[in-house]
Amino acid sequence: MMKKDTASQFSPMTLLLHWVVGVTMVALLAMGVVMVQTENYGLFSWHKSFGVIIFFVVILRVIWRSKNGWPTPVSQYSHLEHITAKIIHWVLIVGTVLMPITGFLNSSVGGHGVVVFGVELVARNVDPNNPRSALAHSEALYSAAHVLHYAIGYIVIFAVLLHVVGALKHHIIDKDGTLKRMLGSKV
Ligand code: HEM
Ligand code: HEM
Repeated sequence: MMKKDTASQFSPMTLLLHWVVGVTMVALLAMGVVMVQTENYGLFSWHKSFGVIIFFVVILRVIWRSKNGWPTPVSQYSHLEHITAKIIHWVLIVGTVLMPITGFLNSSVGGHGVVVFGVELVARNVDPNNPRSALAHSEALYSAAHVLHYAIGYIVIFAVLLHVVGALKHHIIDKDGTLKRMLGSKV
């Protein structure tokens, strides 16, 4: 049986999943924004490959979180702070599930295809009249997936910023063990 979290120490599985997903999410969010703004199409295949792979780790994490329960606060905080942290944890965990799904739909329904490190999962739908461009399977679904991937992406970016500010606030202002516990220390 895998070790579970206790109030004073997180299990290695919680730490591993938090940091693998956390670092990958930050990288994919930054990459998404940069590649779209600079129109760097070379980055798209990396973005899609890592985006699909992380989905499987995210699913493991959701299963682990549901078995293990949510972290208990290190000490007593105001009701508002507790509620805010809870909402942000939910936005983050749901966001990590929805981003790969909407991204996958965006690329597959849009006809651009999905290739994960050279393995073709969904073929490109080449436009017969213009072989250099792709044809969407459904314009309506494509634009829905596109808007969702974009909108949820920016919501998650905002939530990550608040989450990191919260972690630093605990560490620097409250001087409590919240951040240290997520770094593996016993508090
Ligand atoms: C990059 C800087 C980050 C720092 C310093 C950080 C720090 C922390 C800390 C200290 C906790 C424990 C909170 C508690 O004890 O109540 C926590 C929990 C959590 N963090 Fe982060 N985090 C970071 C990035 C992320 C990212 C990018 C995500 C997801 C997109 C994320 C999702 C979560 C979730 C869902 C929890 C709840 C506990 C769990 O599911 O493991 N974090 N984080
Ligand atoms: C955790 C996973 C993912 C995150 C955090 C993420 C994040 C982002 C962000 C922030 C953008 C920029 C949005 C914009 O300004 O339009 C973006 C764009 C994009 N993402 Fe993702 N993404 C993820 C997974 C995926 C996956 C799995 C695919 C496809 C298989 C994908 C395909 C795309 C595409 C094609 C764009 C360009 C949007 C467009 O112009 O159509 N993403 N992503």
